[in-house]
Amino acid sequence: MQDHRVNSRRERHLVLEEAAHRERFSVVAPGRVNLIGEHTDYNDGLVLPMAIEPHIRLDVAARADRWMVLSTDRARTPEVWIDLERSLMAADHAGSWAAYPCGVVAGLTRLGWEIPGCHVRISATLPAGAGLSSSAALEVGMATAVESLCGVRLEPEEKALLCQRAEHEFAGVPCGIMDQFAVTFGTAGHAILLDCRTRSMRHVPLAAEAVAVLVIQSGVKHSLADGEYAKRRAECQSAARLLGVASLRDLDASQWHRLAQSLPDVERRRSRHVVTEHARTLAFVAALESRDWRAAGECMYGSHASLRHDYEVSCAELDEIVELSREIDGVFGCRMTGGGFGGCAVALVDAGQTGRILDEFRGRYRRTTGIDPTMFLTRAAPGASLVS
Ligand code: GLA
Repeated sequence: MQDHRVNSRRERHLVLEEAAHRERFSVVAPGRVNLIGEHTDYNDGLVLPMAIEPHIRLDVAARADRWMVLSTDRARTPEVWIDLERSLMAADHAGSWAAYPCGVVAGLTRLGWEIPGCHVRISATLPAGAGLSSSAALEVGMATAVESLCGVRLEPEEKALLCQRAEHEFAGVPCGIMDQFAVTFGTAGHAILLDCRTRSMRHVPLAAEAVAVLVIQSGVKHSLADGEYAKRRAECQSAARLLGVASLRDLDASQWHRLAQSLPDVERRRSRHVVTEHARTLAFVAALESRDWRAAGECMYGSHASLRHDYEVSCAELDEIVELSREIDGVFGCRMTGGGFGGCAVALVDAGQTGRILDEFRGRYRRTTGIDPTMFLTRAAPGASLVS
C-alpha cells in the first residue's frame, strides 16, 4: 500500500479490508425513513428505520494536489475548497452544508488517514431539510467515497459512529445513532430493528406485494439545530436521573407507572413517551411479522399521538396529515417520522390501492391547507455503496 493513503498512525482494528484504490467513481447514499421507535435512540432504545430510494450521489475524481473540492448545485455556496494539509476545525464551515463532509474528513484524518486530493460533485434526489436524513446520507456517502480514494474500509459500525460524531462536532446536532446506521446498514426490502444500547440489528422483511410505504412531506422545514432536539435529550436525562436509572430504556411500563407519579410534568410526559414507544416498536414488529397490517397501523397512530402530546415534537401540518389519513380507505397507519418540528409523515398503505390513496391524500390536504403536498412511495433500499 502506498503511504499517501494511510499513514503509520492508522489503527488496525478499524481496517476491515483493503479495498481497491480508485481514481474516478461514484457513490450513492440513501436517505432514511423511520417506521417507528422515535426519539428512542438516544435513550438506548429500539428504532425501526429503513433506507429509502431517494439518495445523494457523489461523483468523485482524484486530483494530483492536496485539495478537496466539494461542489453542489443545491446550495448558495456551490463550491468549497478544503486544504487537506491543514487540520479542519468545526468553526471552519459552521452552518454550511460543507460542515458534514468536513466533519467526516476530520474524523478520518484523526484516524491517521492521509486523504488524497479529489473533486467531489454532489447531487441528490433526496430533499434537504425534510427530515429524511440528507445529512447522514452526505456523511456516510462521504466516508464511503474516502474509503475508495484511500483503498481501505472501516468496519461499517465504526463508519456510522464516525459520521455521527461528525454531526455532533461539525454540525452541532447531538443526534443519536439511528440515521447513520440506517444509511450504512440499509438492506433492500427490509427495515432495520436496531437496539441502540447493544447496537445489535435484525433486518425485518417488508412484504412489498401487500404493503407500501408512503412518505408525505409537510412542507415545513425541519431543523434540529435550533435547540429543541437537544432540550428533549436533556429532559430525558433529567427524567432518568430522577427515576434512578441509567437510561429510560431500563424501565418497562409497569415500573414506570409505579415510579413516575413523583416526576415533574415535563419529565413525566417525556419518559412516558419513551417507555410506551418501546412497547409499540416491539408490537409493530410482531404485527408486521404476522402480517396484521391494521395492528401495525394502530401502533403508528399511537406513536404519533404520543409524539404530539407527550413529547411535543409534532406541528399542525403533520397532525393534519395524520388526521386526514384516518379517513382514507387502504391507509393502515400514519405518523410523523424523524426528529419532528416539521419534516415528513410516513404511512403504511395497501400496496394494491396506492394510486387512489395518493390522489385522496393530495386532494384532502389541498382542501384543508391550500398546500399541494409532495409525496412519494418508496421501497426499502440498500445502504451507501459504490455504484461505478
Ligand atoms: C433525528 C436524529 C436521530 C433520532 C431522530 C428521532 O433524526 O438524528 O438520531 O434521534 O431524530 O427519532
